[in-house]
Amino acid sequence: MHKKCQKRVEIGRRQFLRGSGLAAAGAAAAAMAPAGRAEAKGMTARGDYPSNRLANIKDLKVDEPMDIAYPDDDSPGVLLKLGKRVDGGAGPDGDIVAYSVMCPHKGYELEYNAEDKTLNCPGHYSRFDCEKEGQQIFGHANQSLPMFSLRIDEKGDIYAEGVDELIYGRFENIRS
Ligand code: FES
Repeated sequence: MHKKCQKRVEIGRRQFLRGSGLAAAGAAAAAMAPAGRAEAKGMTARGDYPSNRLANIKDLKVDEPMDIAYPDDDSPGVLLKLGKRVDGGAGPDGDIVAYSVMCPHKGYELEYNAEDKTLNCPGHYSRFDCEKEGQQIFGHANQSLPMFSLRIDEKGDIYAEGVDELIYGRFENIRS
């Protein structure tokens, strides 16, 4: 990977981890906290990522992926309830995750396989583990799948508020 891109990816990862740390520290309180001023303006305090409402937890069923887009309409993704607590999972059951569905290799759209909870590329067969924060488990891609950072408010509304890896085809996740 180009040095500059690598640096941006590392910065993105750190921003995401900072967010995760806050969520872990605040646990239930943070997850159920009312939207603050930053969210009211549609922006988070963490970098330039927008705070976008994706759905409500009542809209989700286990293994029925919901199409989303984040941080903008040109970046398709998926919101998933896995039915089992996982690292990076949000919500009362810790099982809600969201990922980009653009393959990091050449951008083919990934498809969800409920049997093994993976996202799979029809292009050159890369596979990503949805229970392991998008870790690549097979194929040509050379990075894990970008995972969207989620926050859930007291009404059960789910917001995306960050991305931990570089989205395919971009130099920066947020377009200026
Ligand atoms: S585009 Fe997905 S593996 Fe090549």
